[in-house]
Amino acid sequence: MTLNVCVFGVSGYTGAKLLHFINKHKKVNLVGVFGKASEGKKLSSILPNLKNLKNLEITDYRKFDFKTVDLIFSCLPHGEFQQSIFPQLDPKPSIIDLSGDFRIKDFKKYELFYDIKHNSKEKKNIFTYGLTEIYKNDISNSKYVANPGCYPTSILLPLLPLVKEGILKKSHIIIDSKSGMSGAGKKPKNKKLFAQLENNFFSYNIEKHKHIAEIDQELTKYNSDTTFTFIPHILPVFSGIQSNIYIDKAGINAEETLNFLANFYKNEPFIKFFSKNTPKLSDVQNTNDTVIKVFSDYSNKKIIIISCLDNLIKGAAGQAIQNMNLMFGFDETESLM
Ligand SMILES: NC(=O)c1ccc[n+]([C@@H]2O[C@H](COP(=O)([O-])OP(=O)(O)OC[C@H]3O[C@@H](n4cnc5c(N)ncnc54)[C@H](OP(=O)(O)O)[C@@H]3O)[C@@H](O)[C@H]2O)c1
Repeated sequence: MTLNVCVFGVSGYTGAKLLHFINKHKKVNLVGVFGKASEGKKLSSILPNLKNLKNLEITDYRKFDFKTVDLIFSCLPHGEFQQSIFPQLDPKPSIIDLSGDFRIKDFKKYELFYDIKHNSKEKKNIFTYGLTEIYKNDISNSKYVANPGCYPTSILLPLLPLVKEGILKKSHIIIDSKSGMSGAGKKPKNKKLFAQLENNFFSYNIEKHKHIAEIDQELTKYNSDTTFTFIPHILPVFSGIQSNIYIDKAGINAEETLNFLANFYKNEPFIKFFSKNTPKLSDVQNTNDTVIKVFSDYSNKKIIIISCLDNLIKGAAGQAIQNMNLMFGFDETESLM
């Protein structure tokens, strides 16, 4: 089976990564690419390094016939897809949306954290939250997938099994995350961001970050007593996320926590555990891996988890391809290794 796929937002950071994986995939046929400012350009002019990529022109989706399309990837800024594109699509093929539009099931929280009105509220339950290793079975049976956020992926992969299995009980978790600047997209809201980051480092959105709603939704799904503090930072590097997660020692120690997680993920090709080395961004950049280290601090009071991934790959396009592979019965690792 060969899939006919379209991509919205090909000129952006995640769109470009997605095309890189689509180009390598044996069972995917790229049939349409859409954009706004880049409309009319050929793919060869915006992605000259992607050899063998079909040289499609970026067009207006309203002039495109979706009848033979099997799957749409949407790599648009939050709000664009749910507000104006999703309601108009007819027919609606399978969809993997990389934005936050369908991740949050409580639409009041979506509107509060994203400051955007939701126009497709009635569709909230048809999208599966696509954290691949946790919701594999649901994703395999889904037509619509809301691909998770980059910070939430780095945080939930180590934490959710602990909460789900009751190892982390009533607990307040401290999460300190750092991301490369590509997390803000190619046109950050703060127009001076890239200049400000030269030889610099800072926290941002310290009181209200969009991903809080998503992390909270998932952690409290399994234990309503779970609370957390999340502080994001931006690093003067292009890509990569490191989340340092501090949990209370209760019941099991760091070594047992590591053994539990390593066993939970023992069949997962993209989840790796470091015992000796400390994970670095260079261990995960340009890969679909999440690298995790679990240890105890000097005072032996906390268990600390370091979780690293590439925000544009496992935190976005790579996980989207992994989800597509599951949805259409392909080898889960196809084009990602
Ligand atoms: N960056 C990350 O690390 C990351 C990680 C996980 C999820 N995400 C999510 O993925 C989505 C894309 O992020 P990104 O970083 O790739 O953003 P980006 O670099 O800013 O790219 C956005 C793309 O959307 C296109 N676009 C904007 N409005 C459009 C419209 N009305 N119709 C068609 N195309 C439109 C732009 O095309 P033109 O250039 O043609 O205008 C551009 O290609 C966002 O929702 C983001 O939150 C990003």
